Amino acid sequence: MEIKKLQDAELNGKKVFLRVDFNVAVENGQAKEKFKIEVCKDTVEYLLEKGAKVALVSHLGRPEGKKDKNLSLRQLQDEVSEIFGKRVMFISDCIGDTVKESLGNQSTEEILLLENVRFYAEEEKNDPEFAKKLAENFDVFVNDAFSVCHRNQASVTGVAEYLPSYAGLRLQKEVEEMEKIRNDFARPAVAIIGGAKIETKLPVIKFFEEKYDNVLVGGKIANEALDQKIPFGEKVMLPSDFIDDRLDIGPETLERFKNILNSAATIVWNGPTGKFEDEKYSRSTNEILSAILASSAHTVVGGGETIEVLEKNEAVDKIGFVSTGGGAMLEYLGGNQIPGIEKLNLIEEMPSTEISN
Ligand code: 3PG
Repeated sequence: MEIKKLQDAELNGKKVFLRVDFNVAVENGQAKEKFKIEVCKDTVEYLLEKGAKVALVSHLGRPEGKKDKNLSLRQLQDEVSEIFGKRVMFISDCIGDTVKESLGNQSTEEILLLENVRFYAEEEKNDPEFAKKLAENFDVFVNDAFSVCHRNQASVTGVAEYLPSYAGLRLQKEVEEMEKIRNDFARPAVAIIGGAKIETKLPVIKFFEEKYDNVLVGGKIANEALDQKIPFGEKVMLPSDFIDDRLDIGPETLERFKNILNSAATIVWNGPTGKFEDEKYSRSTNEILSAILASSAHTVVGGGETIEVLEKNEAVDKIGFVSTGGGAMLEYLGGNQIPGIEKLNLIEEMPSTEISN
């Protein structure tokens, strides 16, 4: 699928609705996954250079249609300003006259940060009236939020019904990398899948089982797979030993995994292999990270918790490509439709060819 690119948009003097994903953990006013904010910097700079006015639109958490100051994007205003090196004006709504007036007064040196779109229940229902209200203050929709593209929600897909819509620079890169993982990878290719909820990870394990040389499974999903006696082919390796209550994989399994990683030419990693947040059970996750960092393979890492591991170890910049997508990456690789990306399909806009007799 070819998607509509920001580089093809007319931007000078346009008001741009920029969908980002600032759904980060906030502790004492500080963002934990800063990386998710940093990745949009290129798109913001590009838009400003082209003379557009930019408003950042995101959700934070799952407020279920209710205002909640603990989930207000106001908390991120200073951090966003620091990361983008621009003045950021926080707007206490995402629709209506407040937004319209702020866009009217906005200088080209300033970015607007709108309030959490999920403070309206209509966002998650993808209500067309709400999408229209979101869109009406703007001229162009740019989606730069790969990690939320698996959600069919008003600010992800709904607004695209009302505005010319394009993929931002980050979203383009994410799609390119996902396509490489799927179709254009060097062998031996190895995937490491960990974390929780085997039912959400099964399609992606099956995908890698079909295409890659080895799939190493750890974390809670390994326990679930063993308990449920899920049958896998020989390429899928489940742990043969554990530590304590199966909270981390054991030394024998870890050695096997590391040996396989040592000779890999492609490594894709999604999900920690143990309860890494507890020091006692973080060994395998940390050693797998060290093996990945020592490897000359093309490395791709994704998933919220896995990014936390990278940030904790100051390793984000040392990985070939770090995807913002947790759920979105799994859906993409599991072969499911990604509504936010489907909406930007270039083909939809191509005029139909009339056959004349
Ligand atoms: C994420 O952080 O994975 C995305 O922002 C999606 O959030 P959601 O699972 O609450 O829709």
